[in-house]
This record gives sequence, structure tokens and C-alpha cells, in this order.
Amino acid sequence: MQETKELLSDDRQGEPVMMDQQSDLQTGKKLYVESYGCQMNFSDSEIVASIMSKAGYETTRIAREADVVLLNTCAIRDNAEQRVRNRLSQFQIEKKRNPKMVVGILGCMAERLKAQLLEEEKLVDLVAGPDAYRDLPNLVTEVGTGQKAVNVLLSRDETYAEITPVRLDSNGVSAFISITRGCDNMCSFCVVPFTRGRERSRDPKSIVAEAHDLFDRGYREVTLLGQNVDSYRWNISKKGEVIEPKDETVNFAQLMDKVALVNPLLRVRFSTSHPKDMLDDVLEVMAKHKNICEYIHLPVQSGNSDVLSKMNRGYTREWYLNRIDAIRKHMPACGISTDIISGFCGETEEQHQDTLTLMNEVKYDFAYMFYYSERPKTLAARKYEDDVPVEEKKRRLSAVIHLQNAHSLASNKKAIGKTHDVLIEGDSKRSSEMQCGRNTQNVMCVFPKLAYKKGDYVTVLAKDCTSATLIGEIAE
Ligand code: 5AD
Ligand code: SF4
Repeated sequence: MQETKELLSDDRQGEPVMMDQQSDLQTGKKLYVESYGCQMNFSDSEIVASIMSKAGYETTRIAREADVVLLNTCAIRDNAEQRVRNRLSQFQIEKKRNPKMVVGILGCMAERLKAQLLEEEKLVDLVAGPDAYRDLPNLVTEVGTGQKAVNVLLSRDETYAEITPVRLDSNGVSAFISITRGCDNMCSFCVVPFTRGRERSRDPKSIVAEAHDLFDRGYREVTLLGQNVDSYRWNISKKGEVIEPKDETVNFAQLMDKVALVNPLLRVRFSTSHPKDMLDDVLEVMAKHKNICEYIHLPVQSGNSDVLSKMNRGYTREWYLNRIDAIRKHMPACGISTDIISGFCGETEEQHQDTLTLMNEVKYDFAYMFYYSERPKTLAARKYEDDVPVEEKKRRLSAVIHLQNAHSLASNKKAIGKTHDVLIEGDSKRSSEMQCGRNTQNVMCVFPKLAYKKGDYVTVLAKDCTSATLIGEIAE
């Protein structure tokens, strides 16, 4: 069913991914990690694997053979948390067979619930928040001595800058690079500022070095990650003043310039942009470098300015549409995607219609769509009533999804008959006779295999499509 597929195709609530990697020390101990939620969590799990590898843990894909099981979790919507609880209950059964197995919870749910899952619900042995991963080997040792292992301290400066992530479950072609952690925006519906703490930027030198290293190891695409990449700043205050000592100052546009210069064959992507902070300098640098992909994920959340104000998003419908115009002015073919929340507190039918009319104006190529899920402690939970009935939220969400499916299909149909620069990611999931890779606008393309291998760039002539994929052939 299309609706379910769209909801589940969101990588932020997708299936957990398991990992497999050799450790530095040979202790024979095994670590199993499952990641849920946003790309940042998947990226963090690679940092966790690196830290645990130094402590002698080799990763495995088989949970039952692991000495330590870690679930890197998401708290953004209630259903994300429910899935993790179910999974933890399964591990409780596994622990009856193997009582020595250490089960730990990481990430946003760990930070939100703190010791609750350990002390009250007794579902885990270990709890580590997003800024406590360096402490994981100690926490595992504490569990071994029968102590309660909890570290949910948030930091103002932890960026794990010098830790080389262990690339897990990787296609060897594309990799994530974290550039900021935390978020200072306080959107009223969002739990992230509470679970990931204050925003901080990572040293640009370590970012560029990581990109160089990845390129040298054969990677051909990096995605710069942050909750709000546009507010990346190194030695620049929030007000735009230079911070002493006067080392190099770098903003997001300048950082992208540096990463793009690593090698013209290294594609650069980024996520997530914030409409209030995405200014023309970012678009100019994108237009300047052929290897910065023409694709922007620009979450709108709602098409109504009053709802946006209650969401504390910091922009109006008009400002948002002005940013869309600016994107199209700089890059007429740029792919644009968004996030939409249906049924936020007090949303009227007219306000919901405003979201649909905005979608009709922008015609997004892709969208992640959700209905509002109240999160404890957030501004909205404290200030507004969650008063749209769940059936109504679902009805509005269905209307949004229905419209988006039509727009995605129309957008892909327009791409038929045109050629696309595609970076080959590997064999298609359905057939080893076919390969797949994305065009610059981030649309997945599938085509019959010729003599090219993953990591090669090819020109693909699109001949057909679904709402999610272009189907074509390599144009020699
Ligand atoms: N309910 C529903 N969706 C939410 N998001 C964030 N918080 C909530 C919530 N409480 C969505 C937003 C955000 C995306 C990552 O998740 O659309 O951009
Ligand atoms: Fe949440 Fe808003 Fe920060 Fe995104 S920008 S993580 S929606 S508070």
C-alpha cells in the first residue's frame, strides 16, 4: 500500500540496520549494534563501533553471539519509541538464555528516559546518551561488576571530532560526515534539543581530513550531517561576530566550498537545511561546484504562517516560498524535498488546506510526512492542547501523502527522456543484472549492468519511472 510504504520509506523510522566489523584488539568479544531513526544516529553508531573497537569489541550481525548489544534509538515520535521497547523485550528473552549478555540503550530515547528503562522497567543494563559514547567501555565494565551503568550527561563541546568512524554496513561509495551536534532551535513540537543538547560545530580541519581519507579509500560521495547544517559556524558567534582567538572562521557555505575542493570526483550532499537560516551564500556555493549535488531537503512542516509561528519555526509561508524561489533562481533543476507534520495543536481545516496549496506551489520531488505526536517536555506539550483527534490527523496526513505521491510521480515523469549523471552504488536489490545509483537530485536510478563498477560515474538515459525510481539505460 502506497501510504504505508511512504511512511516506512522514511529512513528516520526505517528498519534497524545491523553492522559487522573487525576490532583493533583481539579479545574475542563481540558487539551487536542496531540503529533507529535519523541519519545522525547511523553516523553515531559508526563512532560507537570505533570506540568499542579500541576496547577490543569486534562487531557482529548476529545478535545471539554478541557479548554486548546496543540499540541506538530515536525519540522523535511515540511510535519510534514503541518499536524500541518491543525490541528490548525480545532481548530480555534472549538474556534468559545468555544472562551474561549486556543490553544497552543509546541515543535520544536513552537521553529522554535516563535511568527509567534500567531502574523501573528493568529492560536494559546500560544507558548512554548521545554525548557519553567515549564512556561506553567503562559503562560495560561497570555492568560486569554489578553496578548501574548510566551516563546521560550532555556536553557543550563534544563533537567526537578526532574519532575516525568505523564505516559499517557501507556500500563503500557514500558515507556520512557529522559536522554539527545538537540543536538550539527549540521548534515547539521537537524533542531533539532536549535529547541532543546544545548545538556545537566540529573543527573544519577534521571534517576536510575525513573527506580526504574517505576519497582515498574509494568513497565518492559524502553527506554532511547536522540537525541544522546552515547554522554551522567555526569561530563565529551566533550574532556573526568573530570569536577570539582569531583562528580561521568558517560558515556552512565556506565549509561546503572546502569539502567540494577535496576532489571534483567526490560528490557532496548535506542534510538538514533550515528555511530560516538557508541564505543565498549556500546556494551560490552549490551553483559554483559541479560536485555539490543539486538537492536540498528543506523541511517546511506547515504551509500556514500562524501554525509555523506556534511551531516556533522562525519563518512565515512567504519567507519559505521566497527561499524556494531563490533555490530555483540559482539552480533551476534542483531537487527539493521536505518534512510535513499534519494535525499540529489547534490546526484547523483551513490551515491544513494551506499546507496542500503550498505543496501545489512548490511541487516537492519527495517528502517525509508525519502526523503530530506530542512529546513530553516540549514547548508544545507544555503550552498547547493536542486537540486534533487522531483519526483527523490521519485523514489530513493521507491527503498530504496522496498529493505528494502525485507530485513525486509527475517529477519523475519529467525526468524521462533526459540523461542523468549517476554515481553507481552497486547492484539493484531486485536483480544482479541491474545496477543502481542516484542522480544529482537524489533520485534512485536503476539500469542494466554494463562494464562499470560501483563508484563509477555513468550517464543514464531515463526511459520509465515509478514515483520513487527512474528506470533507464547507460547512454554510451
Ligand atoms: N511529531 C511528528 N513529527 C515530528 N517531527 C519532529 N517532531 C515531531 C513530532 N513531535 C518531524 C519533523 C522533523 C522530522 C525530523 O520529524 O517533520 O522535521
Ligand atoms: Fe527539532 Fe527544529 Fe532542531 Fe529540527 S531544527 S532538530 S525540528 S528543534
